[in-house]
Amino acid sequence: MQQNLRIPGPTPIPPQVAEALTRPMINHRGPEFAELLGRVTDQLQHFFQTSQSILTFPSSGSGGWEATVVNLFSPGDTVLSAPIGVFGERFASVAETFGLQVTRVPTEWGQAADPERVAEALRALPEAKGVFLTQNETSTGVMNDIHALAKAIRAVRPDILICLDAVSSLSCVDLQMDAWDIDVVLTGSQKGWMVPPGLAMIGVSERAWAAHKNATLPRFYWDFTKVAKTAEKGQTPYTPPVNIFFGLDASLQMMRAEGREAIFARHQRCADLTRQRARALRLELFANPAVASNTVTAIRTPAGIGAKAITSAMREHEATVIAGGQGRLEGQIIRIGHLGYVHEPEMIACMDALERQLKALGYAVPAAANV
Ligand SMILES: Cc1ncc(COP(=O)(O)O)c(C=O)c1O
Repeated sequence: MQQNLRIPGPTPIPPQVAEALTRPMINHRGPEFAELLGRVTDQLQHFFQTSQSILTFPSSGSGGWEATVVNLFSPGDTVLSAPIGVFGERFASVAETFGLQVTRVPTEWGQAADPERVAEALRALPEAKGVFLTQNETSTGVMNDIHALAKAIRAVRPDILICLDAVSSLSCVDLQMDAWDIDVVLTGSQKGWMVPPGLAMIGVSERAWAAHKNATLPRFYWDFTKVAKTAEKGQTPYTPPVNIFFGLDASLQMMRAEGREAIFARHQRCADLTRQRARALRLELFANPAVASNTVTAIRTPAGIGAKAITSAMREHEATVIAGGQGRLEGQIIRIGHLGYVHEPEMIACMDALERQLKALGYAVPAAANV
């Protein structure tokens, strides 16, 4: 029985992509790969909403953090970080690992970063060279308003580097890299892109390229210049994950056929459905509803029922795989992914399964919960 994989990535793979993944291998230094790389990069620009460069690395999303830090900054540089959960914290700690001075704007988990507070922190930190943001915080199910944050940041520091983790949001929700003036946008193949893990994709602005020229942190594997130079020849500096490119090529074709706005609307519908069903079960949503994510829903576990009991029951009895909480939210929440290759029927099936299993675990499901 096929699982209903409802974790916030890796996400299910459409049949067209699964078929593309098994294509015969090609020479990664030959004309076929050059054509593939060119086509995929063009299509990625459409979804990043940018005309600037997009680089790829054989890596999961975390590589995008490290690449951002080592390519744009120098030891001792000061940056401002606005973490709103586990992943924003990890982005900040990557910077600290490389000797950057990180000042954090604290935000209560479940809330979004407040543009005014970020701007205020920036006014108090004139030496800051960059700001680190997360569009969608996968650990709390909160979506930041990146347009508002970028506007507030630019009002204080028109030329600061805005570095954005869009791992679990890009291609699912609106993100206008150029119009919103974001310098680095990083994402990973296994989320909204509907392909397996293995490829980090990073949009790099002209401003970021200028900073890169003067940044002195050591780098080898993650060097933006090396990737950009070899891309001119239709190649990558190291062996690329060729099959992931085959899959991504197929998924981008599907995505273009559906259309960017239609994809955003589908994610909105699936998120609305999930939240409505959770509310009808009288479950408490973890995120402030005003900033709830369209790609992952975090739900507090009902009193007396542990997250592990719910996730295990879902997997064992319903072939439905959902996630628990991370970090200090472990045991306190469950998380349901609705990103990438997802439509209403899978979400209805998931929430039906959740209702049955909560009942089996002794939760008093309200009458007429399934509305
Ligand atoms: C928002 C966000 N950033 C970064 C990452 C790290 O990506 P990866 O696990 O692909 O290294 C994740 C993974 O879930 C994420 O959700």
